[in-house]
Amino acid sequence: MAQNDQTWHLDTLLIHGGRDQDRSTSSGTPTISPIYASTTYLHKNVEALDEAFSGTGADGRPAFVYARQTNPNANALETVLAQAEGGVGAVAFSSGMAAVHAALLASGLAQGTKIVISQDLYGPTFSQLKKLFAPNNVQIVISDLCHEGAADFIREEEPDVVYVETISNPLVKVIDLDAISAAAREVGAVTIVDSTFTTPYLVRPLEHGFDMVVHSTTKYVSGHGDSTGGVVISKKNVLLDQLRSHALLLGAMLSPFESHLQIRGLRTLPLRMEKHSSNALQVARFLQEHPAIERVHYPGLPEHPQHELASRLLKPGLYGGLLSFELKEQTREAAMCCMNKLQLCLPATSLGDVFSLVSYPPVSSHRTLSNEERHGMGITDGCIRLSVGIEHVEDIIKDLDQALQKR
Ligand SMILES: Cc1ncc(COP(=O)(O)O)c(C=O)c1O
Repeated sequence: MAQNDQTWHLDTLLIHGGRDQDRSTSSGTPTISPIYASTTYLHKNVEALDEAFSGTGADGRPAFVYARQTNPNANALETVLAQAEGGVGAVAFSSGMAAVHAALLASGLAQGTKIVISQDLYGPTFSQLKKLFAPNNVQIVISDLCHEGAADFIREEEPDVVYVETISNPLVKVIDLDAISAAAREVGAVTIVDSTFTTPYLVRPLEHGFDMVVHSTTKYVSGHGDSTGGVVISKKNVLLDQLRSHALLLGAMLSPFESHLQIRGLRTLPLRMEKHSSNALQVARFLQEHPAIERVHYPGLPEHPQHELASRLLKPGLYGGLLSFELKEQTREAAMCCMNKLQLCLPATSLGDVFSLVSYPPVSSHRTLSNEERHGMGITDGCIRLSVGIEHVEDIIKDLDQALQKR
């Protein structure tokens, strides 16, 4: 349904992709596609309806039957994101977690299979594996896949599936996508990467050998804190078929309205990612010099252990909007006091919005872990995560500065 010009740059694709703009057949075509609220769709006869159930009509265009299958707005979002990531197709879901679930099912995780995951996975993704897959005799092997021996570890373990995130939360460690996918390919494992923090604007993991890319579109894709969704983009038709079939059974499709908001978000994604990244680098440099700060984690800083890898993997000069910092006073009280004093940066659980958002891992992403488990992962009690927004950077810095003054 979207006009498709293969020569477009990504920025242009994200602006014009998903627009139903065939003005050759009628005049007065809206520049923005309508929101198709219908749950069911009419066809010229029952034979056409029968054909439409396959997802494609006689004219080769997407055909719609029933809202749980898909809808024109979600289809447009899927088309743009599949093109943006360089996949054969995509399936949109009502949340990032629904997308994670569908990707895990599509990968073939079932009784007797083994998955290797990185130790820093988003907490609910780990819990989903533990609660929904482990009881069905799926073996979960956890490792710090950011270390140099990660590829050898995968070769030794010979898993069926490997699941990683491009950049970890909250310590923003970067995964060597090429090394991990090469090792997984050698042992025949399906590879899944959650690229929520990076988006296709910073890196396209399918080009680095991955089979499926997951995004929580609630974050940077939507970008405005007003829409929840998820998507899985596949490099292979066989996995795409699995995703579509699971999507229909899981019933977690993305609604037309949410799809509309997310397509709207995509149009400014490049601008926002540029600004998130430049703001984050300036904030990281400010924090690094601040007397109340022990350590700053940001891949754009030369001191970051994977700075070189990040520079090779990500769009030149851009390192994303996520950073974390550790207070000199490594206590929960000090972290909470600092967060409570913030006026502009909002202490709310999410990331990737236009607003700067702060979160404290022990009460948000890592709340289900014990102190020992968190400390073992290098997450100290004075660690605060900051999703740097696109406000004027001087205002963000001023707010942080006043919150970091002595109690
Ligand atoms: C990296 C990552 N993946 C997946 C999710 C889940 O997304 P959602 O909240 O849209 O279900 C999140 C949510 O914070 C996330 O940070």
